[in-house]
Amino acid sequence: MTIQWFPGHMAKARREVTEKLKLVDIIFELLDARIPYSSRNPMIDEIIQHKPRLVLLNKADMADKEATKEWIAFFAEQGIKALAVNAQAGEGMKEIVQASKEILKEKFDRLKAKGVKPRAIRAMIVGIPNAGKSTLINRLAKKNIAKTGNTPGVTRSQQWIKVGKEMELLDTPGILWPKFEDQEVGMKLAITGAIKDTLLNLQDLSIHSLRFLEREYEGRLKERYKFTDIPDDVVELFDHIGKLRGCLTGGANVDYDKVAELVIREIRGEKFGPLTFEKPADFLVQELE
Ligand code: G4P
Repeated sequence: MTIQWFPGHMAKARREVTEKLKLVDIIFELLDARIPYSSRNPMIDEIIQHKPRLVLLNKADMADKEATKEWIAFFAEQGIKALAVNAQAGEGMKEIVQASKEILKEKFDRLKAKGVKPRAIRAMIVGIPNAGKSTLINRLAKKNIAKTGNTPGVTRSQQWIKVGKEMELLDTPGILWPKFEDQEVGMKLAITGAIKDTLLNLQDLSIHSLRFLEREYEGRLKERYKFTDIPDDVVELFDHIGKLRGCLTGGANVDYDKVAELVIREIRGEKFGPLTFEKPADFLVQELE
């Protein structure tokens, strides 16, 4: 979460993932279900090449269920299997093993036909900071992290964690950088907590987020802050929330910084219910005839 990405860091991160790719049968690409596009590393296809992958839409508990279904269908259209998971609560863990077995069935059947002794599936997790990689590793490992020690032919420092009998997971995930050249993406990374607040203008972020709620979840916004109509004017918008919720300065004026912090805290704290900040349809480019 505190990582500042510079070209040197990006090259190193990429090298590390590329190195580990050789050790595994399958990649778990961990995305934030609330922002499956914005939480994707922009070079992921190039980095993992043809390695089989399973997309995991994590934090599904915080995302809009209908939108998550749309994203799963979107990935399916591209031939990529995606699953909704909640690493924090451990939901979807069995499905990860099951889906991996299905994705790798052909490869393992081929090996078996050649007389190779069946072995556990080897997997690694990749994702941007804060996607939930450590949480997922701990969940998959359960309480008693049973490290299998060094595997012949494998770099000594790599440790494998047993996930039941059928899977082994690299104990360190691949950490990749998010997209950050696009301001809209930056806002989504920020509102979901993937970027440190100290790097942000909280008023900008809260205005952006309130306008998003107005567009996509108007009823919930009106209900929470008791709006009859949502003002176009930003000062009116902030004044209304500030007065309602007592975000005031000593002189009883509305404290705009406090309003901004309140709004962001409440969105992150799921006070507006589960939210998805982008849908597949937002990225469909109309093809020219
Ligand atoms: P990382 O290794 O990819 O950087 O992410 P990490 O596991 O540290 O998770 C980042 C934050 O996301 C953590 O919260 C973690 O609890 C939370 N998280 C991970 N998976 C899920 C999930 O499926 N659902 C929900 N709701 N949250 C999830 P934190 O606030 O940084 O720490 P804490 O809440 O554990 O104290």
